[in-house]
Amino acid sequence: MNLKSHHLWIAGMVLILSLSKCYYDNEEDLYPVVECNTTNMSYANNVNPIITNNCLSCHNAQFPQGGVVLEGYSNLHNFVINGKLKGSIQHDSGFSPMPQGAAKLSSCFIQQINAWIDQGAQNN
Ligand code: HEC
Repeated sequence: MNLKSHHLWIAGMVLILSLSKCYYDNEEDLYPVVECNTTNMSYANNVNPIITNNCLSCHNAQFPQGGVVLEGYSNLHNFVINGKLKGSIQHDSGFSPMPQGAAKLSSCFIQQINAWIDQGAQNN
């Protein structure tokens, strides 16, 4: 390796290192930590889709397992009032953990349902 190519090699390494440092610095911008939006939760836009996708296969109005109907606002609201919606999705002791036989809802979904309850569990 003559002097010239040696310098080129060093220049190349410095370039690669500085590029990768740049890339690393920007990583948070490229892949932002996904935040969970819990403001102004809506039954129609936020809560009902979660319930529909994760619960209604067993808790629809036609063939409700355990007699628990979660289809439609007023049916779901009964389980807000008796505390069982919150208890079951949080896997609190004294409640049947839901969804039965499946993974716990994502923490964002749980936060969003709880926020909706705290915001008055309205039919909005
Ligand atoms: C695979 C079927 C299945 C799915 C999916 C399911 N459940 Fe259930 N759920 C049941 C059965 C069966 C019961 C009655 C027996 C029991 O309480 O364990 C029940 C009971 C309940 C109860 C009454 C619990 C209590 O402590 O009295 C609530 C509330 C409930 N489910 C909510 C939900 C919610 C919310 C979801 C979705 C996140 C869900 N379930 C998904 C089968 C299911």
